[in-house]
Amino acid sequence: MKKKIQPFLYLSITVSLFTAFFAPTVNAQSFFKNHPQINPFQYEIVKEKTFQKAAVTSAHPLASMIGVAILQEGGNAFDAAIATQFTLAVVFPGAGNIGGGGFMLARKNNGELMGIDYREAAPKKASKDMYLDAQGNAINAMSKEGASASGIPGSVAGMISTHAYAKLPLEKLIEPAIELAKYGFVISEREAKGLNSEKANFLRNSSAPSAFTSRTWKSGDTLFQPDLAATLLRIQEKGLAGFYEGPTAEMIVKEMNYSGGFISLEDLKNYRPKFRKPIEFEYKNHHVISFSPPSSGGIIIAQMLKMIAPFEVEKMGLNTEASVSLMVEAQRRAYADRAEHMGDPDYYKVPTQTLISDAYVKDRMKDYQPGVVGSSKITQAGIPHESEQTTHFSVIDAEGNMVAITTTLNDTYGNKTIVAGAGFLLNNEMDDFSVKAGVPNMYGAIGGEANSIQPGKRMLSSMTPTLVTLNNKPYISIGTPGGTTIPNQVFEGLVNIIDFKMSIKEAIDAPRFHHQWIPDVLALESDFPQDVADALTKKGYKVTKRGRFGRMDGIKYNADGSLSAAGDKRGDDSVAGY
Ligand code: GLY
Repeated sequence: MKKKIQPFLYLSITVSLFTAFFAPTVNAQSFFKNHPQINPFQYEIVKEKTFQKAAVTSAHPLASMIGVAILQEGGNAFDAAIATQFTLAVVFPGAGNIGGGGFMLARKNNGELMGIDYREAAPKKASKDMYLDAQGNAINAMSKEGASASGIPGSVAGMISTHAYAKLPLEKLIEPAIELAKYGFVISEREAKGLNSEKANFLRNSSAPSAFTSRTWKSGDTLFQPDLAATLLRIQEKGLAGFYEGPTAEMIVKEMNYSGGFISLEDLKNYRPKFRKPIEFEYKNHHVISFSPPSSGGIIIAQMLKMIAPFEVEKMGLNTEASVSLMVEAQRRAYADRAEHMGDPDYYKVPTQTLISDAYVKDRMKDYQPGVVGSSKITQAGIPHESEQTTHFSVIDAEGNMVAITTTLNDTYGNKTIVAGAGFLLNNEMDDFSVKAGVPNMYGAIGGEANSIQPGKRMLSSMTPTLVTLNNKPYISIGTPGGTTIPNQVFEGLVNIIDFKMSIKEAIDAPRFHHQWIPDVLALESDFPQDVADALTKKGYKVTKRGRFGRMDGIKYNADGSLSAAGDKRGDDSVAGY
């Protein structure tokens, strides 16, 4: 399906503005001058397409197209991923970011795996009870809005670490983002609505008005972000120091001082990404690779897929009473373990290997009775004995290198605070910590000691960038945003492909369901079949219907070596390739 962004009357205005701004300053290296096929003022959303060699799928058409242009200029999947991430920071302010963090999972064509954790970290001034009042009650807004909610951003450092595996100069990979921020691009209706609905929050939380608050937006308007362009230029010129030191760092700290934030210049200077060993496991002849703690995602999908592996799910059918009941009971058990056992492995001993071991998972399902509705009062976390608005994008290059990145500000538009003069939104990732044992975060998830706050510690995530190989060859790259629903979405997406033999597009668009142990509620998307919802209610599940969740993007190899790329029907997600 192709959908055109309608710039309406603004096209001629924006195009001429573009020419006026752009022409006098253009240099020979200008990305858009060299890539006239990509027009920031008129572009199409492409939901599904098959490509012969390489593909990128992301939350925004411009980001996907720029990723592919970088591949065609001789870059590999890492180059394309870096260019895509920086572009998303401009064209998708709600979740694409430089003020947040994420996880980069990759498999090189020689089989080498890598996981770069550029999750935000708690500032040095953070403490276990920092979000509690004098009576010990959680102060709800403090971990969710304004500077106080931010962890130290990791995205820029994450991309610079990723660059070690890339081929092209970093400056080249940031250039398209700088030009989009400086010379503008046409926004979609979805973005216009998002910016309008947050305008009052942006103005309340930020120390100064910003590009986002400059008007009431509508589809087809051009968004210019000169402050962000200047920040990106500093990163382009100085690398890490362009963000973590100097003017950008000083502007972040000034914003902290304006509204009670905790991040210091020292915190920024000391931030480093970490390399993590990916989670690997087998599911029905497929080798699944996903992210390890501080993301809960890899462990959870390993547990859930292993829990349902003994059952003939394919015979039960997609979104039937039988398949949903089985998968929900697996979700209940895995999410109970998430609450108890998962956190930053550098601060809490996460029994990862035990949690994903066949024996432990089998034991967790020993009280499962097909057809019987479980209870989250009875099902508690297991006792292992030792011997995670966000956005996802996938890249596969012509050599078969696969990169899956999920990156986040946490809530849509993060902490609703734009760093004055620097032009970017900060995250509200501190809310992903357990601010107090048993007190739910914005996703209703609870936690305890494993995910309590400590200076330097990284908050538990649900982000689940995932790769699959088949017969030791690259097969699938997939992931999605959606807070605690993420592992369940990836779990269901993989079952849709592997068990129900659906195309990547069908698998991504299928109605989803979500159970996270507590609350003991089965959430169904609004287009989930009503007859099955009724049957599940009758059976005893506490069923709620909610709007759509997630925006899954994926790429899958076909038997003939071509690549099918798909963008979720739920957003402006779009594919590109060649
Ligand atoms: N902030 C969403 C996650 O990391 O799970």
